[in-house]
Amino acid sequence: MVDPVAIGFGAGLVLVFVALHAARGTGWEATADISEEVIERRASTVEETEFPEPGSRAIGGGSAPAGAVAAGEEGELEEGAAAEESSGPGDVPEDEIEHFEVEFTKEGDTIEVANNETVLEAGEDEGWDMPYACRQGQCVSCAGQITSGGNAEDYVEHDNQQMLDDAELDEGYTLTCVAYPRDDFTIETGEAP
Ligand code: FES
Repeated sequence: MVDPVAIGFGAGLVLVFVALHAARGTGWEATADISEEVIERRASTVEETEFPEPGSRAIGGGSAPAGAVAAGEEGELEEGAAAEESSGPGDVPEDEIEHFEVEFTKEGDTIEVANNETVLEAGEDEGWDMPYACRQGQCVSCAGQITSGGNAEDYVEHDNQQMLDDAELDEGYTLTCVAYPRDDFTIETGEAP
């Protein structure tokens, strides 16, 4: 039969082990949340860039606070991009503004035109009735012909004209609404190819 002393002894041993185990603990501790630390460490290894990062390189792009920061940065970048877009042949720094002599044969006058104004604007400033429609280089209403010899773009810089091909430019045709002078020349206004 079962010896009650042995049972008591066994139970006592079990209790001692349990007590010792509880006192020592398991040695296991909950892992500290190191995700922020890891993100910061990674972020410090990525160089600051002047241009928008692809989404895959954005650090912590998925979380709300990081997203909020990214939105602010994007705002600045958009402004920068807009500033770049607006630059054209008419955006001449003040200390680089030059004037060229432009003879308008039909109007019978020679005027000084600055390199930051269009031939059309210069003519209008004189009070002449200059032809135009879109003022964006997308029709030929404002066309004129530079008769000084050679390609029109030897004398003017077009701001994104879309209508004249190389042969027409070679014949001296220009779109006065987007033409900024780069040399002296003679022009017949109201002449389209
Ligand atoms: S007005 Fe349309 S191209 Fe100049």
